[in-house]
Amino acid sequence: MIEVRGLTKRYGDVLAVDDLTFDVEPGKVTGFLGPNGAGKSTTMRMVLGLDRPTSGRALVEGRPYAALAEPLRAVGALLDPGAVHPGRTGRSHLRVAARTNGVPQRRVDEVIELAGLGRAARRRIRGYSLGMRQRLGIAAALLGDPRVLLFDEPVNGLDLDGVRWIRALLRRLADEGRTVLVSSHLLSEMQQTADRLVVIGRGRLIADATTEDILRGLGTARVRVRTSRADELAAVLRRHGATVERTGAAELEVGGSSAEEVGELANAARVPLSHLSAVARSLEDAYLALTGSSVEFPGGRTEPAGTATGVTP
Ligand SMILES: Nc1ncnc2c1ncn2[C@@H]1O[C@H](COP(=O)(O)OP(=O)(O)OP(=O)(O)O)[C@@H](O)[C@H]1O
Ligand SMILES: [Mg+2]
Repeated sequence: MIEVRGLTKRYGDVLAVDDLTFDVEPGKVTGFLGPNGAGKSTTMRMVLGLDRPTSGRALVEGRPYAALAEPLRAVGALLDPGAVHPGRTGRSHLRVAARTNGVPQRRVDEVIELAGLGRAARRRIRGYSLGMRQRLGIAAALLGDPRVLLFDEPVNGLDLDGVRWIRALLRRLADEGRTVLVSSHLLSEMQQTADRLVVIGRGRLIADATTEDILRGLGTARVRVRTSRADELAAVLRRHGATVERTGAAELEVGGSSAEEVGELANAARVPLSHLSAVARSLEDAYLALTGSSVEFPGGRTEPAGTATGVTP
């Protein structure tokens, strides 16, 4: 379990993490989603005691990281897969990490197997592809057989096989009852990987719910409606749980309701409509509206609703 409470980090003028509060529960894959610069890595570093919060706190298994008796056995992390000695072999890198952390050497071969490093483990890290470095980082995270795991953008730069392999690994780790927090800036990736999502933008919490609920709330099928009494209709729709966005003086875009429902609610409230239609909206567009970001998604905007895939199949 990870508990984040009022966590805040300021770098000079930049408020990187702004009063974040959320829990990461065991037995689930929790996606940590936000556009570039949202504060995901900073939050993870604070959970791991690598960065000091300006205020607030983060607890791992009920304690601050620094107070854990055997940190590597409690929590494993993949942060920056580049930070290894290039002249060592993968195996010797892992052996050193095991020795300095009191992990038995036989565990090294287990994690090499688990991470699918295989024969590459005997080659020098200098010659590793990005995918192999990523696997080595994951092997290192698993060394202490920790109950809590943090992966910062583990699929970045991986090919399809690598992406699928990581998804399956995260699932297995969660099914074993571990706490798994995995960050990404791609909703389409998290959609296929995470049971729950903690969504942040500009350091602030935007959503914290099951992936299913968040996707439903985002509503890829939206309804466009025009009326001279837009404020009145917006209030009616919100009372019925719809999300309403003002897209013009006399125009609203509605999520979480079908066109039929919007029509019926308008009729019941005696609000005359001049236009009512369903509009397709890609997941990425919906996510951008949610996070209020100007970040572009590769390919996301040109694809029809529901099939936007970012970099994944
Ligand atoms: N050491 C630092 N010094 C100054 N500013 C920093 C530092 N680390 C992060 N920041 C700033 O804090 C904000 C959050 O950065 P962070 O790396 O946590 O975002 P992120 O969500 O991980 O983004 P990305 O998806 O690009 O990895 C950014 O504005 C970043 O420029
Ligand atoms: Mg980051």
